[in-house]
Amino acid sequence: MGEIVRLQKYIAMSGAASRRAAEEMIKNGRVSVNGVPVSEMGIKVEIGADKVHLDGKEIKPELKKYYIMLNKPVGYVTTVSDQFDRPTVIDLIGEEIKARVFPVGRLDYDTQGLLLMTNDGDFTYKVTHPKHRIDKTYVAEIKGGITVKGLNALRRGVIIDDYKTSPAEVEMLSAEKGVTVIKITIHEGKNRQVRKMFEAVGCKVLSLKRISIGKVELGNLPIGRWRYLTSHEISYLMK
Ligand code: URA
Repeated sequence: MGEIVRLQKYIAMSGAASRRAAEEMIKNGRVSVNGVPVSEMGIKVEIGADKVHLDGKEIKPELKKYYIMLNKPVGYVTTVSDQFDRPTVIDLIGEEIKARVFPVGRLDYDTQGLLLMTNDGDFTYKVTHPKHRIDKTYVAEIKGGITVKGLNALRRGVIIDDYKTSPAEVEMLSAEKGVTVIKITIHEGKNRQVRKMFEAVGCKVLSLKRISIGKVELGNLPIGRWRYLTSHEISYLMK
């Protein structure tokens, strides 16, 4: 007999979603067990015996977990499929990973840099839940200069979409030929947050790159390439 687990855990084990998101999928009627649609919570299934379908496609628990980082290029979306048929980060993963891995959080189409990917829904939950306040550091090139007042406003928090951002760490790295380079660290993840924060202080972002998540750094991984996280990086992000 296979292990018996709750349906939302089974879905998370398949890498299709975190447990919490899996509950939503069940409530929304997207899941069936042995051909019967299930929308109530609390159902248990037996791994290897019961057949679970999500949106009509069978999903199976992937017992081997994959944890990778990708240096996302500009011009890729971080969703699994795109309504405009733009390239997705999944296209960059290749054959070596034998499971469906999913982006951990988002990066904008026009943002480059560190993107974690995994088939472990619990890892995704840990890294993305706001309560864990994991720092994310970005390097932004902005057009022209920025005033000390602007820098300090970013440090204190600015209003974007009726929301006051938490204090950020902000450091000016260089300013030459009409371009200022700024390193900024935030722990929130509102939609287009860094771009909107700069907009709020009158600055136009020319390029944006994420260089670290907590202590996990992009380093010199080439654009468009991925690597496995080390066991040290995985246990650090899991704790
Ligand atoms: N902030 C942004 O504006 N864009 C990103 O992709 C990430 C953070």
